[in-house]
Amino acid sequence: MKHFLQETDFTRDEVVQIFSMARHFKQERGRHEKPLAGQTWAMIFAKSSTRTRVSFEVGLHELGGNPLFLNTNDIQIGRGEPISDTAKVLGRFVHGLVVRTYAHGDIMGLAQDSGVPVVNALTDFLHPCQIYTDAFTAAERWAGPDGDLFASLQGRKVAFLGDTGFNMANSWILGANLFGMKVSLGGPASDGPGKLIRMMANKMGGSFHFTSDPYEAVAGADIVYTDVWASMGQEGESAERQKRMMPFQVTKKLFEAAKPDALFMHCLPAHAGEEVTQEVLDHPRCVIFDEAENRLHVQKAILAMLARERG
Ligand code: CP
Ligand code: NVA
Repeated sequence: MKHFLQETDFTRDEVVQIFSMARHFKQERGRHEKPLAGQTWAMIFAKSSTRTRVSFEVGLHELGGNPLFLNTNDIQIGRGEPISDTAKVLGRFVHGLVVRTYAHGDIMGLAQDSGVPVVNALTDFLHPCQIYTDAFTAAERWAGPDGDLFASLQGRKVAFLGDTGFNMANSWILGANLFGMKVSLGGPASDGPGKLIRMMANKMGGSFHFTSDPYEAVAGADIVYTDVWASMGQEGESAERQKRMMPFQVTKKLFEAAKPDALFMHCLPAHAGEEVTQEVLDHPRCVIFDEAENRLHVQKAILAMLARERG
């Protein structure tokens, strides 16, 4: 059973197909085929969401499927029913699961026991739907309407600033290596990439650069990327994290130290005045709303690929 739990669950050839399908779904919105006709997909969310929830609900509808949104507080998993039992029960009803949760191990458990494809809609460890979308968004700009999306990413550099030890940074490490890009992470020495992501990068023959100098991180970058300093579940550490990460705030000066045509990206939600200044969010090369829109098109392509593999 094919799942999408981490960036490397698809090969490079499959990523090429996903990007091309996403472009097709975007260009033919409202007219394209409906490969999920007659299917119901459960969306199990243990954390808040705007973009992921709406883009998956709309996307499933547009592919002919039926989304069933389940907040974990409303189902028995919230009262302690084991993940494996929940997975086995849901697998009897639905054709696939889209899951947002805390521990990455929980989503792996659901994938192991459900018997249906599982899509990672964010864990503490990874946010692969976001990273595929971000790469697609940059490639759209670089390749133009008919150019080779995947080829346009080769050798490009992404600089990730701020919280370099959590889901978005981890996902860029795997994503950049999969897409043929270079990744440089700039963050406090205490918040650098952890052991597991280092092992995973090694296993795929990949590499990344980590520095505590934000200007070193952005030098020569094609994309400057940041994320919130206190992710969902870390709200209690907010003040401490702000203090540690302030040197990595993306200011106009820092952004302009990257390549002159670099893009600014952020998965959103953004906190202006914390990880990024309002001036950068208003910059003509800030593409945050294109990223948000493209979640819809890229995730539809991911769902269609999984449905196709399942037959
Ligand atoms: N970027 C992202 O995943 O946003 P949401 O938390 O709103 O889904
Ligand atoms: N790192 C953030 C990403 C939100 C899309 C979080 O996990 O809250």
